[in-house]
Amino acid sequence: MNTRKEGSLQQVKREGFATSIGVVAATLGSAVGLGNLWKFPTMTGQNGGAAFLFLYLICVILVGLPVLLSEWIIGRRASSAIVTAFKKLEPKQPWYFTGYAGVTSAFLIMFFYTAVAGWVYAYIFKSIIGAFTVMNPLSAQSHFVQFAAGASPIFWQWLVIAGITAVIIAGVTKGIERVTKILLPILFILLLVCDIRALTLPGAAAGISFLFKPDFSQITGAVVLAALGLAFFKLSLGLGTMTTYGSYIGKNENLPRTALKIVLADMLVSLMAGLAIFPTVFTYNFEPSMGPPLLFVTIPMVFKSVPYGQFFTILFFILTEIAATGALISMLEVPVAFLVEELKWTRLQATLVSALFTATVGVTAALSPGIFSDTLIFGQTFFDLFDFASSNILLPLGGLFICLFVGWKLGKGVIIDEASNSGALHNEGILSVYTFLVKYVTPVLIVVILLAGLMNWI
Ligand code: TRP
Repeated sequence: MNTRKEGSLQQVKREGFATSIGVVAATLGSAVGLGNLWKFPTMTGQNGGAAFLFLYLICVILVGLPVLLSEWIIGRRASSAIVTAFKKLEPKQPWYFTGYAGVTSAFLIMFFYTAVAGWVYAYIFKSIIGAFTVMNPLSAQSHFVQFAAGASPIFWQWLVIAGITAVIIAGVTKGIERVTKILLPILFILLLVCDIRALTLPGAAAGISFLFKPDFSQITGAVVLAALGLAFFKLSLGLGTMTTYGSYIGKNENLPRTALKIVLADMLVSLMAGLAIFPTVFTYNFEPSMGPPLLFVTIPMVFKSVPYGQFFTILFFILTEIAATGALISMLEVPVAFLVEELKWTRLQATLVSALFTATVGVTAALSPGIFSDTLIFGQTFFDLFDFASSNILLPLGGLFICLFVGWKLGKGVIIDEASNSGALHNEGILSVYTFLVKYVTPVLIVVILLAGLMNWI
């Protein structure tokens, strides 16, 4: 890239995050969501506990962290959202296709994410009317299964979609950011309360050993691919969310250090969710591999024997819904920004059409545990297919192209200039590790895991 082009890129003035805390709050607001509270425990339970956690940690460090930093470098360098960013930084070659893949995966994720966020709404309602006060572990489980197999999840899913559409149309995204900044710490404290309760249950030791004592015999190519997919999903990587956010980050923000903070904080929230859930699983003899119902069955049971338990259950699901809403908004922003920037639609049009599309196709995910449970495509329900195709294929592919672009196209000079704030930060050591990872290690790992996982799956 020549210097004239660089100069002109930096002149573009854009609205951005005003403070470092703002950067951390906004990116964490996107990262923390159902991924930590629902997907992480579900997958850890299904894939054998500690061994999966170990693989997930490796994927986060060797893949997640470098891809996060790469997305920020692209976004901040180009001052644009994903498709436009690639076009600006490399006008001649079709790297912007990565952006199209991103828009596709944003929809795939929203199809099932809104269904799960809908279950959370239903559970807020159920805990308010006191549905769980009379339940025992067995009936809590059959209650969820019956609920999810019915038709009412569509209603809750549409409520979720209407909610985020209203937020975006009203333009209160900034307000949401402010609210998230206050509510994330409350969620954190509430998780701490859950943890303390769960860790004093009789099954605590079994739960902890499930989460931290690895049994590597459970690992297959498919399990490693699942861990990689979770690392992408969790940190909102591979589809352009973090690239877009990178374009709002100030020029004097320390990118590598902030990326590390985000990854650690996100991991802490996931581990705290795991520490609340698995001791409960072993105390009440639930099956850790029960899958998607896990969160919805254990949390009401965690609070069952706690004073003001009903209040805590309501609060827990409300905070979960808020975390999910923050993540969903950051996801919807990807197609909306694409339609506005590339197709010149108005923001209102772009939002309404994206929301309607999600509400229409998303129904198939909401009905997957019910009437569509036998409708299988490549052996998977709609719900699982949307999840698999996005997390396990499109996001890693997006991440692969992002790494190749930064490592091989932008190259070392631009990386060091951008990630050291034009030499103001003296972080050469970290940057040479990062440059090496992003060029050789991360892309190779992604390709190997993808191939191993897909072969195992076929
Ligand atoms: N990270 C969020 C979660 O864990 C989900 C999410 C938000 C996401 N934006 C994303 C996932 C972009 C992939 C890409 O719940």
